[in-house]
Amino acid sequence: MEFKSVGIKGLGYYVPEKVMTNFDFEKIIDTSDEWIRTRTGIEERRFAAVDQATSDLCVEAAKKALDRANMTVEDLDLILVATCTPDYLVQATACLVQHKLGGKNIPCFDLNAACSGFIYGLTVANGMIKGGVYKNILVIGAETLSRIIDMQDRNTCILFGDGAAAAVVGEVEEGYGILSTYLGAEGEDDDILRTPAGGTKKPNDAQTIENRENFVKMKGQDVFKFAVHALPNATKNALNTADVSANDLTMIFPHQANVRIIESAAKRIHVPIEKFYMNLQKFGNTSSASVGLALGEALEKGLVKKGDLIALTGFGAGLTYGSIIMRWTY
Ligand code: COA
Repeated sequence: MEFKSVGIKGLGYYVPEKVMTNFDFEKIIDTSDEWIRTRTGIEERRFAAVDQATSDLCVEAAKKALDRANMTVEDLDLILVATCTPDYLVQATACLVQHKLGGKNIPCFDLNAACSGFIYGLTVANGMIKGGVYKNILVIGAETLSRIIDMQDRNTCILFGDGAAAAVVGEVEEGYGILSTYLGAEGEDDDILRTPAGGTKKPNDAQTIENRENFVKMKGQDVFKFAVHALPNATKNALNTADVSANDLTMIFPHQANVRIIESAAKRIHVPIEKFYMNLQKFGNTSSASVGLALGEALEKGLVKKGDLIALTGFGAGLTYGSIIMRWTY
C-alpha cells in the first residue's frame, strides 16, 4: 500500500519578550555567568510575562505557522499541543488554543512527552494523516517552564526557558516531508527528572510546598548520561529506517538542552558539530518547544531550503526520546 507524503506546510515560533540573562541569575542565586556558559552553553533565556500562559505562547506561534502554510484555523482537522506545562491540569491547553484562534468543533488534545514532545507530536500527526484519519493537523510544542522551576535551586533554574513552536502538518509533494520516525521511552518510576508533587500521586499540601516539591527536580548527571546515548541512538535509528546516511543530512536539529550533550552526540554519529543547529545560547532549554524553535529560527535565517534532508532529534523526562528524518518541503 502506497502512503501519501506528509510534511510540514508551515512553521512558526514565538518567544516571550522578557530576556533573563545569566547575570540576572547571579543576583538571585549562588552562580556565575561563567559557570552556566561553560557547563551548558546557555547565555540567556526568555520568561513569559505574568499574564502569559502556555496557550498564549501557542497562539502566537500557531498564527505564524498558519500564515506560512497559507491556511486559516477552519482548514484544521485537529489541534495537538505537546507540553508538560499546560495552562490547567484539567482542560487541555489545545482546547484553549482552538478557542483563542477562533476555531469551532475542531478536535483537540494535549500530549506530554516532555522535551521529546514536538517529535512525538509530529509523529502522531504523520500517522493520522497517512492513515487517512485527518488532512491537516496543527502540532504545537510549547512550554512556560518559568512557572515550574525553583528559583532557589541552582541545579535546575538556570537551564530552562519559555517558548512555542507550531507546525501545520499535511500532505506534501511526493518524496518530500517525513521519511521516517523513531520514538522510544524508558518509563522507570525513578526521580531523575520530574515534578514530585501536584499530580495524583502526591497532591500539593503545605508540606510539599514547604519542601518545594511543586517545582521540577532533576538529577543532572543522570540525565546527562542518558542523553549522550539517547540523542545519537534515536538519530541513527531514524536514519536507518529512512535508509539514508548521517552524511546526507544538511542539518540536525537536536533538543537544545546542553552544548556538551550535543557535542558528544556529534562525535558518536560522526557528523561535524557545525551541522548541529544550536540556539540554546539565547533560549535555553524550552522542552517541547526546543526542536521546533531551532528549526524555525534556521528557516528564518535561510539555512534550510526545499529539498534539504534534515533530522529532528530529542530526549527528555519520561525518559523519552525520538527522531524524525524529513526532506524539507518549502
Ligand atoms: N552555578 C554554580 N555552581 C553550580 C550550579 C550553578 N548553577 N549548579 C550546580 N553547581 C555546582 C554543584 O553544586 C557542584 O558543586 P560541588 O562540586 O561543590 O558539589 C558543581 O557545580 C558540579 O555539579 P555537577 O552537577 O557535577 O555539574 P555538571 O557538570 O554535571 O553540570 C548540569 C550540571 C545540570 C549542567 C549537567 O549535569 C547537565 O546539563 N545535565 C543534563 C541536564 C538536562 O539536560 N536536563 C534537561 C533534560 S531534557
